[in-house]
Amino acid sequence: MSGLSIKDVKKSFGAVDIIHGVDVEIADGEFVILVGPSGCGKSTLLRMIAGLEEISAGQISIEGRIVNHLQPKDRDIAMVFQNYALYPQMTVAQNMGFALELAGVKRPEIEHKVGQAAAILGLQPLLDRKPAQLSGGQRQRVAMGRAIVRDPKVFLFDEPLSNLDAKLRVKMRAEIKALHQRLKTTIVYVTHDQIEAMTMADKIVVLQGGRVEQIGSPLELYDRPRNIFVAGFLGSPAMNFLEGTLQETGGPALSLSGGSRVKLSQAPANSANRSLTLGIRPEDIALGGENGVDAVVKVVEPTGSETHVAVEVEGKELTWVVRERVELSPEQHVKLSFETAKVHFFDRQTQQRLEA
Ligand SMILES: Nc1ncnc2c1ncn2[C@@H]1O[C@H](COP(=O)(O)OP(=O)(O)OP(=O)(O)O)[C@@H](O)[C@H]1O
Ligand SMILES: [Mg+2]
Repeated sequence: MSGLSIKDVKKSFGAVDIIHGVDVEIADGEFVILVGPSGCGKSTLLRMIAGLEEISAGQISIEGRIVNHLQPKDRDIAMVFQNYALYPQMTVAQNMGFALELAGVKRPEIEHKVGQAAAILGLQPLLDRKPAQLSGGQRQRVAMGRAIVRDPKVFLFDEPLSNLDAKLRVKMRAEIKALHQRLKTTIVYVTHDQIEAMTMADKIVVLQGGRVEQIGSPLELYDRPRNIFVAGFLGSPAMNFLEGTLQETGGPALSLSGGSRVKLSQAPANSANRSLTLGIRPEDIALGGENGVDAVVKVVEPTGSETHVAVEVEGKELTWVVRERVELSPEQHVKLSFETAKVHFFDRQTQQRLEA
């Protein structure tokens, strides 16, 4: 049985349609991440699951039970927001136990559950502190503790890490993933950080403009994006795109408008003279190769472990990631080759993926 089922769910605010019929099936215990650009409807979808926002059409069920008309408190869901909104006058322990207190749970049981959650989250030494005496990451953990004590069927997270600095975000990312591995509770997690999505999710749902673009495991989406939007959205630095015409005489090649030819080892069937968009990830570009294309180095950015190089091919900027140490300087002319087994093809008109 599905842990959480979202069927043809729509949402309008007044006359404005925001969510246009979203279908997502989430298995019990699955960690699902909703990603997409700002305003695509991620928070709205999450709030509809939580019952904080009415749905305009469709059906949401949790463990087989339709919850469309259930109050948030009756849905057996706990939500953690971006601004974790702890009660400043309460201690960590009181913050974590408050929902149980409201629900009329007896004191010894509250203490037991708060103790358990604190142990899971490493919060035991902090139980008597007030939120003002905690770091950002510790506050975030208390907010999660508040959700955990309720032992819900589903956790909902709306960009819980976006208020944290980069280093803490990486640490909390690992903590949330470890937490999920221990608790095995279904999680729906919203972010617009595609690295969070890639590293934490069992399954990613890519949304754009209130519609699902693709659903799949992180690597399915990375390796076989269904369209140019998904291809460009997942991956950092982002995938490069080159437009050209496919030529098949003398072996497949993409002919760019300025006359450069990108040799290919394969191409979509029956596509001679077709206008294609070729996608190539920055790490699948290499220096040299006898069939390489001419490129000009523009900006060299060493990150330590790798170097990001902005290059121009026929005046169009591409990003190239180099793992080895290389000596490159601006305005240097280089030949670049693409790992042909790893290029992606898209129809230029429909933007849909074409299999080679
Ligand atoms: N209560 C509301 N009334 C009218 N429009 C709303 C309301 N809530 C959200 N919207 C609109 O719905 C769209 C989706 O908003 P939503 O908050 O779900 O986006 P999001 O994907 O979470 O974006 P972000 O990444 O910026 O948080 C936006 O265009 C927003 O302006
Ligand atoms: Mg949002």
